[in-house]
Amino acid sequence: MLNFAHRGFSGKYPENTRLAFTKAIETEGCDGIETDVQLSADGVPVIIHDETLDRTAVNMTGAVKDYTLEELRKADLSYTYAGKCEPQQMMTLREFLELVKPSDLAINLELKTGVYEYEGIEQKVIDLLKEFDMVSRTVISSFNHFTLKRVKAICPEIRCGCLIHAWLLDPAGYVKANGFECWHPEFHCCTPENVKALAAQHVEVNCWTVNSLVDIRKMFQAGVTSIIGNYPDLVSQVRDELEEDGEWPLGWSVCGFGD
Ligand code: G3P
Ligand code: MG
Repeated sequence: MLNFAHRGFSGKYPENTRLAFTKAIETEGCDGIETDVQLSADGVPVIIHDETLDRTAVNMTGAVKDYTLEELRKADLSYTYAGKCEPQQMMTLREFLELVKPSDLAINLELKTGVYEYEGIEQKVIDLLKEFDMVSRTVISSFNHFTLKRVKAICPEIRCGCLIHAWLLDPAGYVKANGFECWHPEFHCCTPENVKALAAQHVEVNCWTVNSLVDIRKMFQAGVTSIIGNYPDLVSQVRDELEEDGEWPLGWSVCGFGD
């Protein structure tokens, strides 16, 4: 059962920044990092959750797609932590991969093509993953499943996860019929019954965003493949406790990343 830090260690540090990623890498029991990718005006894959700078930058507003990388570098993404940490410059995907590569952490790259399609983003992301030789430790996720189809056409071997915020009737059927490997549900849509049905079809279940002790325990007990949460230290703690009590691992959950 894998423990993914959502936007880095975003529960305690400004999301999707070098600081949050470094803290996730340093957290014992953290197995991977989830992050969000958009494109700058000059076509560079950059790390930020929203389509605009408005929420997380303290000194700039406007759409990410309307600024060149050089301009985006001026944004301070320290968000609500402004003044409590060093200013946080936007990272490119290349810099993110450089940071994570020396660790053994897996990565979940969410392509944010829900509002703007960012033509060509799929090829740019795959080219970078190949350059860094990180295809096998990556899952590509998106709410835009056409994006996932384009990713598969470029790189059939990369694992793809369908992000979804809905109670699908047959998630395993949907994932498999479209040639993907993983289902990435909002965690309220994860029941032991549907996780078990997905596991029977060898579909991974990577759920988000699980932050409370009660919900983390529930998801472990449902048998999900990964928990994506803002507090990788809490997920690690719960996993250790359940293991000590003999309540985990369950016999039937689906393993990910090479298993
Ligand atoms: O990838 C899981 C999760 O990050 C999806 O939603 O809005 O937090 O990017 P969001
Ligand atoms: Mg995300």
